[in-house]
Amino acid sequence: MNKKIVFSGVQPSGSLTIGNYIGALKNFVELQDEYECYYCIVDLHAVTVPQIPKDLRSHSLDVLSLYLAVGIDPQKSTLFIQSHVPAHAELGWILNTITYMGQLNRMTQFKEKSKKSDENLNAGLFTYPVLMAADILLYQSDFVPVGEDQKQHLELARDLAERFNSRYSDTFVVPEPLIKEFGARIMSLQDPESKMSKSDRDENAFILMLDNKDAIRRKIRRAVTDSLGIVAYSDQQPGLKNLLNIYSVLSDKSVDSIVANYDGKGYGEFKDDLADVVIQALSPIQERYKEYRQDKAFLESIYREGADKAEAFAAKTLRKVYKKIGFIPRI
Ligand code: TYM
Repeated sequence: MNKKIVFSGVQPSGSLTIGNYIGALKNFVELQDEYECYYCIVDLHAVTVPQIPKDLRSHSLDVLSLYLAVGIDPQKSTLFIQSHVPAHAELGWILNTITYMGQLNRMTQFKEKSKKSDENLNAGLFTYPVLMAADILLYQSDFVPVGEDQKQHLELARDLAERFNSRYSDTFVVPEPLIKEFGARIMSLQDPESKMSKSDRDENAFILMLDNKDAIRRKIRRAVTDSLGIVAYSDQQPGLKNLLNIYSVLSDKSVDSIVANYDGKGYGEFKDDLADVVIQALSPIQERYKEYRQDKAFLESIYREGADKAEAFAAKTLRKVYKKIGFIPRI
C-alpha cells in the first residue's frame, strides 16, 4: 500500500516562534502516521538574506532538534538538510526556465521583503518560490502543510507542475496545500494586523518556542488588546482574536468554550491563564529540545540517514525530468 506523500520545510534563519509551531511544526507531527513525510531544513532558502556562517550552522541543528522535540519521529518521517541533496538546486534551475518573471513579481512576500532589504535585493530572493516549488515537486508530494503566508508560493508550485506536465507529459504530482482553519496565521502580539515573525524588531511582538516562562508571561501580559474589556472572538478585537486562537490550538479547547469561561472576567485573568497554557505546551518541548540539541552524534545520524533517503527519491525524479527535457544521460 502506497502512502500519500507530505513535504514541508522550515528556514534555519533564527529562533522559531509559536507561529512556526502552531502554523507548521505541530501539524507535521499529526501527519506522520498516515503519510510518508519529508521534513526539510531549508538552508538554501535561508541564505537569501545575509547569514553569519557559524550561526547558520547552529540554527540548522536547532531546527532539527526542534523537529525531534515536538514529536517528529525519525523512524516514521524523513528529516534532512536541503543543501545535502543537490537535486533541489538542480530542479530549481530547470523550473526557473519555465517560470514567468510576471509571476514572481506578483509574489507578496517578495514585495514585502524587497521593501525591507533594498541593500540586499538579490536574485535569490526573487526566485525563492521557484526553489520552494522544486523542494515540493522533487518528492511527488501530495500535501504540503504550511501557514497561510505560504499559500501563494504553493499556488506557484502547482502552476509549475501543471505547466511542466502539459509541456513534457505527466511528470509531477500537483501538490495540495494543507492550511488549518485555526492557527494558520498567528499575528504579532504588538500589532495584530501583521504576522508574528521572528525577524520583528520588537521582541514583545513574538514568543519564541524556546522562551523561558518569565518571558512568555511578560510578553502575553504586554500583548496589545483593546478598550472594550470583553473576552470575545470578533474582527473588531483583532488582538484578542489572535490570543484566543493561540489559547484554543494549544489547549485543544474550542474558542466558544474558552469565551464562555471568561464571561464577566477581565483581560488580566485571561492573559494569565493563556500564559499558563503556552508554558504548559512549550515546557515539555523545551526539555526534550535540550537533550537532543546536545547530542551531536545522534543529530548527525538523523540528518545523514535522512539525506540518503531523500537523495534517492529526489535523484529519481530529477533523472526523469532531465530525460524529458532532452538532456543526454551520463550513463
Ligand atoms: P518559514 O521558515 O518562514 O516558516 C516555517 C513555517 O511556519 C509557518 N509560519 C506561520 N504560521 C502561522 N503563523 C505565523 N505567524 C507563521 N510564521 C511562519 C510558515 O507558513 C511555514 O509553514 N518558504 C518557507 C519554507 C519552505 C517550504 C518549502 C515550506 C521552503 N521550501 C517547501 C513548504 C514546502 C518559509 O519561509 O517558511
